[in-house]
Order: sequence, then structure tokens, then C-alpha cells
Amino acid sequence: MKTLIIVAHPDLSQSRINRAWAERLRLLPDMTVHELYPTYPDRRIDVRREQALLDAHDRIIFQYPLYWYSTPPLLKQWFDEVLAPVWAFGPGGEHLKGKEIGIAISTAGTAASYRPGGYNLFTIGDIAKPIEALANYVGAHYLPPFATHGARHLTDEQLAESAEAYVRHLATASRVTAADLVASNG
Ligand SMILES: Cc1cc2nc3c(=O)[nH]c(=O)nc-3n(C[C@H](O)[C@H](O)[C@H](O)COP(=O)(O)O)c2cc1C
Repeated sequence: MKTLIIVAHPDLSQSRINRAWAERLRLLPDMTVHELYPTYPDRRIDVRREQALLDAHDRIIFQYPLYWYSTPPLLKQWFDEVLAPVWAFGPGGEHLKGKEIGIAISTAGTAASYRPGGYNLFTIGDIAKPIEALANYVGAHYLPPFATHGARHLTDEQLAESAEAYVRHLATASRVTAADLVASNG
């Protein structure tokens, strides 16, 4: 399986966790790490180039720091421009059908703050619902989200462990199917 990691961090030189993740994933086979901000410093996205990248991979992971419970702006622009009608959806728009789509998010907020009753009110699964809906709309299979919290206070050891957890997540993540739900409920 060929995996495309789309990294959307506005300034990786100031990043700890997203940079560490990207550096670790670059060592893996069948992995393309594609950093949006350095690729498009003028914010002019080459839509055909992005679509060709998507065509060449089976699994797409959007990796970003959580910004106001959402994505950094260039990733939103990327969704708006790259996931175009006729290409991603609508008549003949089946380029993402059957692929896997997932997310890897870092947050400053703690893990407890992203649990029900926490001060952020919602889980990462809740907050990422727009991407789950997007995956559904284009006919892709949505993977369980990967997240690391408390990003500003991680020790170097915790940073390295987070990168290894991300690698394990990619190795084992599989979509939840209706059959799984029936099995777990039954
Ligand atoms: C504009 C902006 C908005 C942010 N919004 C949130 C937020 O909604 N929730 C949160 O937990 N952290 C938020 N943060 C903190 C970042 O998510 C955090 O610094 C980042 O995940 C750390 O990753 P890095 O080391 O790769 O930069 C925000 C940071 C910035 C600059």
C-alpha cells in the first residue's frame, strides 16, 4: 500500500511534533511525505500535480496541528481546490473512491481536555467530523484518527514515542466496517 502524508504546518522550522513525525515517516518504504506550505509559499496550489499525487497513492493521511479546532488555512484551500467536481465527486469523479483517508493531528490541549466533559468539550473524533464526512462524500474509507496531545510540553522521549506510535498506527489502522459494528454490538 502506498501512503501519501500531506503535511500542513505553516512553519515546520518552528514545529516540534509535526517535524519529528515527518522526519520519522520519511524513513518508511512506500511513503511519500508532501509538505504543503514549503511547496506552495505563494499559496498557488498546482491542482493537477496534487491530483496526480493522489492518483498514485492508496492511502492519504492529512497531518496538521489543530488550529482553532480546524485545519491550517492552506489545507482548507487544498480541499476546496483539489477535491474538484468531476474529479473527486459528481459524474465521473471517482478518483478517490475506494482509497483510505485518515488524519494525524497534534494539539496543545491535553488528552483530558479532548474527552467528553473536558474543557474543549469535544473529542478529536468529533472535531474531525468534517474530514470524515469529506471522505464519505468522495467514496473513500475513513481511518480512525491519530492524535498526540499536550504537544508543547512533550519531552524528547515522549516526542520520539509519539512518532513510533504514529508508525504503529499506520501499520495497523484499518477502517471500521459495518460488520465490525455488528460484531462488537452482538
Ligand atoms: C493559530 C493557532 C490556533 C491553535 N488552535 C488550537 C486549538 O484549537 N486547540 C489546541 O489544542 N491547540 C491549538 N493550537 C496549538 C497547536 O495545535 C500546537 O501548537 C501544535 O499542535 C504543536 O505542533 P508543532 O510542534 O508541530 O508546531 C493553536 C495554535 C495556533 C498557532
